[in-house]
Amino acid sequence: MPNTASQPRKILVTSALPYANGSIHLGHLLEYIQTDIWVRFQKSQGHECYYVCADDAHGTAIMLRAEMEGITSEALIERVSREHQADFARFGVAFDNYHSTHSEENRVHSEHIYRALRDAGHIATRDIEQMYDPVKGLFLADRFIKGTCPKCHTDDQYGDNCEACGATYTPAELINPVSAISGATPEVRSSTHFFFKLPDFTDFLKRWIDDDHVQPQIRNKLMEWFESGFNEWDISRDAPYFGFEIPDAPGKYFYVWLDAPIGYLASFQNLCDREGIDFDAFWKKDSDAEVYHFIGKDIVYFHALFWPAMLEGAGLRTPTGINCHGFVTVNGAKMSKSRGTFIKAETYANYLNPEYLRYYFAAKLTSGVDDLDLNLEDFASRVNADLVGKVVNIASRCAGFIRKLGGGKLSSHCAEPELVARFIKAGDSIATDYEVREFGHAMRKIMELADEANTYIAEKEPWVLAKEGGREQEVIDICSVGINLFRQLMVYLAPVVPAMARDAQAFLKLESLDWHTRQEQLLDHEIAKFKPLMTRVERDKINAVIEASKEDLAEEQKMKDTPKGPLADDPIRDEITFEDFTKVDLRIARIAKAEYVEGADKLLKLTLDLGGETRTVFAGIRSAYSPEALEGHLTVMVANLAPRKMRFGVSEGMVLAAGDDQGIYLLEPHSGAEPGQRVT
Ligand code: MSP
Ligand code: ZN
Repeated sequence: MPNTASQPRKILVTSALPYANGSIHLGHLLEYIQTDIWVRFQKSQGHECYYVCADDAHGTAIMLRAEMEGITSEALIERVSREHQADFARFGVAFDNYHSTHSEENRVHSEHIYRALRDAGHIATRDIEQMYDPVKGLFLADRFIKGTCPKCHTDDQYGDNCEACGATYTPAELINPVSAISGATPEVRSSTHFFFKLPDFTDFLKRWIDDDHVQPQIRNKLMEWFESGFNEWDISRDAPYFGFEIPDAPGKYFYVWLDAPIGYLASFQNLCDREGIDFDAFWKKDSDAEVYHFIGKDIVYFHALFWPAMLEGAGLRTPTGINCHGFVTVNGAKMSKSRGTFIKAETYANYLNPEYLRYYFAAKLTSGVDDLDLNLEDFASRVNADLVGKVVNIASRCAGFIRKLGGGKLSSHCAEPELVARFIKAGDSIATDYEVREFGHAMRKIMELADEANTYIAEKEPWVLAKEGGREQEVIDICSVGINLFRQLMVYLAPVVPAMARDAQAFLKLESLDWHTRQEQLLDHEIAKFKPLMTRVERDKINAVIEASKEDLAEEQKMKDTPKGPLADDPIRDEITFEDFTKVDLRIARIAKAEYVEGADKLLKLTLDLGGETRTVFAGIRSAYSPEALEGHLTVMVANLAPRKMRFGVSEGMVLAAGDDQGIYLLEPHSGAEPGQRVT
């Protein structure tokens, strides 16, 4: 690992490029905040460090979204880019450049890398068969095809796997497949595709991965992939596609994931051109600059295999490190729209200080890839106890005495040289924690120091001395030590809470809070009037965020187009006889218990009381109901449906609900009905 102090380093840092068809949410923010903290730390150390990002603007999803909104793809990505940048700014994420993959720089670099790969023999072409939507005139990716699961016969499953039974298959195996875009029955069509020959790079990648460019857990995962062997990677898509046309291949476009990582180069190029930085010094093969990509664990394959192989094949340098993080959960579960825990950056920032979140994430971040739980109760108590109760408290206890008794000036000598020296020394190990992305360790050390500072002040009791008369100088000396300790802590915290640090800097009347400035003590130094640097987290604001997030969901659903899927104009089915109908045993059931099912986005597990007998039923109603909302309610169930084995357990019947793509409504009898009663 590069050493932390001494010579200045040249460092280029990126975060993954967010898709240009959705809002930034708290899950994304973990990544941008983690990266931003690391970058701010490097800058504080005096290194030449650049942080670039961009919107990931290409692909079918963006094209369809624009169409749904009735605007051009260009207009959509333009608007979303503005929204993304506004969100990042509110959270203090300070890019040196924010660009777009739909840019001239990216076209140039993509074409250049592609040509280099092609000329070196790393591109193949061949015809493949794919599902095609004849109404839309589009080839369909698996997720745009829906149909009935060939194994368990559950309706409305995606083209590659079944949410109910967990089976995996190809879209061609689905029963009654339909295009999720137009509702049309897809046909199989053949077309020529371009492939990047990843297997050419197997040996290179083996060496690369063994060379400390990825975390140990990621290395293990990659080794598994090595064992199963690599396939060639399909890098082309047929028109119509929002992206760049492939050189010498009219009607063929680069797949979005080909030009997305090249967007890192494009954004940096754009910065270099503006500021006169030497691009090649960072990207040529033998560059001594460092390049780090911060990413989430879902996109490792692209960054740790395709990307280094592409760079190597094109004769460019490869990344120094891929820094991967886990996923954000809220209150122990995947972020959920119906529970209001799918929280957009904007919604959060309308109610709560973004620096609370920066601190909480920092306090829980490690260098590993484990998921990070945002427990909202813990979030409030941790921020209140640490930032407000410990850190700000030091300044607020001392500042008044310095103003009143010292005329706003700190003592000209240090009353506790050893204590202050220890705080300065602690900066070395805190710096190492930042460098290796063990932010949680850094925060713990900083809070231990804050405890020490508070203990020092509490034991010296300046407020008692101040009342005694004649001991003013002692009070000023103690509080000057306190202010000096506070200053050290703000140097250490500045990468995490930049807005608070800026206010602290104004209060301390300092030019800078950069890392090295801590070596110099504040003696005979004037400070400004103290203003509260951070207020406590209010619990009702957290509730307001949850409520507002539920409203965000409702808004989104209203915005969606009328459904064009299979349910939209479902004709009344074939006639049945009365006898057929009486075969169905419909019963009133009381929902005794309702639970989330881990790993199933659509399902709730219901325990149904049939007046003595109980049944377990898995129902696809999670998007519409939270478990609490259901418990105790009556509904109607099919009691004689043959039990079905699902991935999560056996389902012993089904509940009746009305619904389409817009919503799901469970049937409920008028009051007076009793569990177990037959429905006729
Ligand atoms: N566009 C691609 C990245 C291309 S990089 C050349 C993409 N975009 S994304 O918007 O889906 O995600 C952006 C980043 O946010 C990814 O690194 C992703 O892992 C991260 N996260 C998205 N949701 C997340 C959580 N819930 N938790 C933590 N990180 C998450 O992928
Ligand atoms: Zn199935």
